[in-house]
Amino acid sequence: MRSFQTSTSPKFPSFLTVFFLFLSTSYAHNFLLRGSSLSVEDDSDILVSPDKTFSCGFYGMGQNAYWFSIWFTNSKDRTVVWMANRDRPANGRGSRVSLRGDGAMVLYDVDGSIIWETNTTSTDARMAELLDTGNLVIKGPGGEILWQSFDSPTDTLLPNQLFTKSTKLIARLHGGSYASGYFNFFFDNDNVLRLKYDGPDISSIYWPIPYLKMFENGRTNYNGSRIAVYDEMGHFVSSDWFQFIASDMGLLRIRRRLTMDHDGNLRLYSLNNDTGLWVISWEALTQLCTVHGVCGRNAICVNTPEPKCSCPPGYEITEPGNWNKGCKPLFNETLFQSQQVKFVELPHVDYFGFDLNFIESISLDSCMKLCVGDYRCKAFNYKLTGERRCYTKSELFNGYQSPSFEGKIYLKLPVTVETSQLAILNGTDPICQSDELETMIGSPSMYNINTKRMRWVYLYSFASAIGFIELLFVVSGWWFLFRKHGVPALVEDGYQVLSNRFRRFTYAELKKATNNFKEELGRGGSGTVYKGILTDERVVAVKRLENMYQGEDVFWAEVSTIGKINHMNLVRMWGFCSEGKHRLLVYELMENQSLDKHLFSPKFLEWKDRFEVALGTAKGLAYLHQECLEWIIHCDVKPGNILLDSEFEPKIADFGLAKLSQRGSDSSVFSRIRGTKGYMAPEWATNLPITAKVDVYSYGVVILELVKGIPLSNWGIEGGEEHESDLTRFVRMVKSKIQCGEDSWIEEIVDPRLNGQFSRNQATTIVQLGISCVEEDRNKRPTMDLAIQALLECQD
Ligand SMILES: *[C@@H]1O[C@H](CO)[C@@H](O)[C@H](O)[C@H]1NC(C)=O
Ligand SMILES: *[C@@H]1O[C@H](CO)[C@@H](O)[C@H](O)[C@H]1NC(C)=O
Ligand SMILES: *[C@@H]1O[C@H](CO)[C@@H](O)[C@H](O)[C@H]1NC(C)=O
Ligand SMILES: *[C@@H]1O[C@H](CO)[C@@H](O)[C@H](O)[C@H]1NC(C)=O
Ligand SMILES: *[C@@H]1O[C@H](CO)[C@@H](O)[C@H](O)[C@H]1NC(C)=O
Repeated sequence: MRSFQTSTSPKFPSFLTVFFLFLSTSYAHNFLLRGSSLSVEDDSDILVSPDKTFSCGFYGMGQNAYWFSIWFTNSKDRTVVWMANRDRPANGRGSRVSLRGDGAMVLYDVDGSIIWETNTTSTDARMAELLDTGNLVIKGPGGEILWQSFDSPTDTLLPNQLFTKSTKLIARLHGGSYASGYFNFFFDNDNVLRLKYDGPDISSIYWPIPYLKMFENGRTNYNGSRIAVYDEMGHFVSSDWFQFIASDMGLLRIRRRLTMDHDGNLRLYSLNNDTGLWVISWEALTQLCTVHGVCGRNAICVNTPEPKCSCPPGYEITEPGNWNKGCKPLFNETLFQSQQVKFVELPHVDYFGFDLNFIESISLDSCMKLCVGDYRCKAFNYKLTGERRCYTKSELFNGYQSPSFEGKIYLKLPVTVETSQLAILNGTDPICQSDELETMIGSPSMYNINTKRMRWVYLYSFASAIGFIELLFVVSGWWFLFRKHGVPALVEDGYQVLSNRFRRFTYAELKKATNNFKEELGRGGSGTVYKGILTDERVVAVKRLENMYQGEDVFWAEVSTIGKINHMNLVRMWGFCSEGKHRLLVYELMENQSLDKHLFSPKFLEWKDRFEVALGTAKGLAYLHQECLEWIIHCDVKPGNILLDSEFEPKIADFGLAKLSQRGSDSSVFSRIRGTKGYMAPEWATNLPITAKVDVYSYGVVILELVKGIPLSNWGIEGGEEHESDLTRFVRMVKSKIQCGEDSWIEEIVDPRLNGQFSRNQATTIVQLGISCVEEDRNKRPTMDLAIQALLECQD
């Protein structure tokens, strides 16, 4: 008895260790038993495949969009390979996935509604299991597979996953979204693997080369089995004879994925074990301009060599920043009926498809007459040499400029449209803003030039087609990794490579940098901002978040939001610290502080700067509201949150505080009122849903203050009798002056300190814009895009 005790007691600690080890790793199961669930709120509620390659659980973006997904555990950006509910994200609170008692795997939203479910109801399903292949399977009692995620891929095919007549890869809508987009990879009805743009306007096949015969493309349509697959070595075979091998073929144990990318290209990627980055080892198209629909209706894609979109003469972009909508004519197309038309030559350009007519051996003159005589003809393609072919076009889609095209497009325009004969196609990036890519990887002031960086840049120029968005996602994907407690060493290293200057700081570092939080720069609702100097001598603003940031989740929400964002009119974040109860953010420091310090003080801004502030702020907000990212509402736009750099270019701060609201949804209700009195839209006080129009309202107040030079956001001053705000009184006064036809009303409004040194035209535009922004009825307020347009029209 005694000897038994002595022999066991030394083992007790090791038993404890084992027990705690078991506890700490207990979440890393690879199965979910019938009757159990995974919850969206618990970060550790995930399944991990036995060899840890894949993880499965809720994948979040922003604060309130979650997808039940499978992703690569160790890839740097946690690359998603499968999603159950890509078009209908679940709420970040209360959502769960259950293997229900009746055998079905069900994804419930917070209100109990079913977002997604498997077809295994009333089966004898025992458990769901995540396999090493990346396949999530539901198994019966004998281990038979009742359902598998491999049967319903989203945009990615994994090694050994069968691609069949009932599967399809559908690309993401854009880099900032997981929703289904327009590019598809599928077996066509004639048994051939194809890539197709299936957009709202048109649908068009672009791979294999559409104008070649089947055998010229190396395909057959005689084998009806419609099956394709690739192995771990990187060898892809299909029943239509299509096959390829990866450039790094043969290296066993490389993780691979074949993805239908949102730019319309199909690519095979290999995971680099050391960096966690993906390297392209095969791609379907070498020239992205051959992707149909990439630039939208009427637009022309130019390889420079990365693809850029342009509008032809006489056309302009339909929706700035969104090439999906293409270009719209600057003239009325009914004018074509009058036949008062001219033609503009676009050398080396073609629009694919939509031919009204095709005639061989015809003169240029006759081809032109053919187009003039047909009001449906918008252009024609003609080649002087060779067969002298004439194609007249009823629609201008899939426009493409390439030096190897010998033909020209002769674009039909009404004679009244003024154009220069020489058309220059200056493109912009089809995937949102091209200039961002340059600032991110091209500017040595932001990233140290060293070999690591060069390698990184190389990787990205290699994958340039993925472009800026993907890059953002590599950066932002980081935040998801960091949500887990403890950062794997390899990952931390990779992160340093990724962006030398954007990192996680220790509390001690920031304490030292700010000299124990000595120099206070400002104080806001969310915390106090201190000046700091980092060890590399960069001067930064360190924001110490205070009590309202109790939860780690709220903190991460802000960080993941800000981490994604890079726009010249938005304050840039360099890093963060999350240690114990400390939550700090490190921002670039704005030399000229905030707008209110300039506007409402003796050192007032000149007119030119005021106009640029109005325009830049509008651009920043428009970016937050709709471009690239999810829809982000700022909720606290005011002069104190508009910072000025050394050139007085405005940069909006504090945008991390607002919740993300799902793009396109109108029903986001905020639980708590945010904002600053005087700048807050009336709907905060009512039960109306909060939309981006609350920012438009606040913006309106700010630009009216810009013109007037004094605060209009004060409430019911003087004796308390009058509860009308300065703003209401001001708007009423301006409206009545305009109505009475007073000529000099604008001079009376503009800040007298300017001594008449301002542009009357610009001031009038800003006042009118401001007044429409502060409309009670939010539907009458313009969008930020419209505000930009109005300002651009009167820019010098
Ligand atoms: C569910 O659907 C898949 C694909 O359609 C099918 O293979 C499988 O047998 C179905 N499972 C059950 C239990 O009906
Ligand atoms: C059709 O393709 C499948 C898969 O590649 C192959 O196994 C089969 O033999 C082919 N059938 C014919 C008739 O060639
Ligand atoms: C990558 O990592 C896996 C697992 O750690 C290993 O088995 C494999 O050999 C590595 N591959 C390469 C190419 O280094
Ligand atoms: C084009 O002109 C026709 C007739 O002049 C008119 O009916 C039509 O509304 C115009 N369309 C646009 C878009 O301006
Ligand atoms: C197009 O680019 C050329 C050269 O970069 C430039 O000179 C020209 O002004 C640009 N045109 C437009 C319309 O932006």
